[in-house]
Amino acid sequence: MDIAIIGSNMVDLISYIDKMPKEGETLEAPDFEIGCGGKGANQAVAAAKLGSKVMMVTKVGDDLFADNTIQNLKNFGIDTEFTNKVPGTSSGVAPIFVDPESRNRILIIKGANKHLSPDDVDRAAEKLKKCSLIVLQLEIPLPTIYRAIEFGNENGIPVILNPAPASKELDFEYVCKCDFFIPNESELETLTEMPVENEEQIQTAALTLVEKGVKNVIVTMGSRGVMWVTKDHIQTVSSHNVDAIDTTGAGDAFIGCFSHYFVQDGDVLQAMKMATAFAALSVTKRGTQTSYPTLEQTESFTKEK
Ligand code: RIB
Ligand code: NA
Repeated sequence: MDIAIIGSNMVDLISYIDKMPKEGETLEAPDFEIGCGGKGANQAVAAAKLGSKVMMVTKVGDDLFADNTIQNLKNFGIDTEFTNKVPGTSSGVAPIFVDPESRNRILIIKGANKHLSPDDVDRAAEKLKKCSLIVLQLEIPLPTIYRAIEFGNENGIPVILNPAPASKELDFEYVCKCDFFIPNESELETLTEMPVENEEQIQTAALTLVEKGVKNVIVTMGSRGVMWVTKDHIQTVSSHNVDAIDTTGAGDAFIGCFSHYFVQDGDVLQAMKMATAFAALSVTKRGTQTSYPTLEQTESFTKEK
């Protein structure tokens, strides 16, 4: 096993809208799509699609979405031994609104994801020990995330934490125990309470985390690219100019692809470059997982550039 994703899955209910209705108003929107999403599952699918062996520790409900979600993970070759149903609970769902400028607004109803507990990490221990990387996001309970970080440390397995969606509650004592901390600009802003309007400000904000003891901070900056900050160096990879249609799940695309390449040989810069290309390709298509490119598409895109 290469990568363990301990995290969320959701069913994305994506409305493509002209504008948001006001209170009490009924508006017609042009289009709707339903797809498998959730930050954890998106990252798992991204890495699996590129060829990594991925296991997912997650919880689904016992509703009509549950079997479809498990089957979707299986279709990508993801190990679902520790993807369990929670009786009497709904699966996680995410109503998403995408406007004509490709900007999104996302609501998450975590459902079964709230039931992923620290014990679930320990129950999966034997299989987790065989993984070379653990990847976490913030759509599951914080105690479960902290247990997963400890587990990684106890077993010498590197840990990536993607603080999405941002939570002020996140305990930095645990963040410092992760090998990579990968927020986007707005998550960095929330976590540091510092402005992130330009690269200089982003760098300053990221450095405050490094000063607190975070080892590697990688900030995804959308169309501005990606910035990697450690205590002794700063490196930026610029993004690709593409026609954005739907940016939903682009951050997850980055994390999943970064994990795939990082786990092969530990080359962080190369993983950043490939993940930037992979995420750029994903925004040119609708949806989250459905928009992720193949290995061939990603590699030929980076060669063109
Ligand atoms: O990051 C995008 C994801 O956020 C969506 O797939 C949605 O499910 C929410 O988790
Ligand atoms: Na997309």
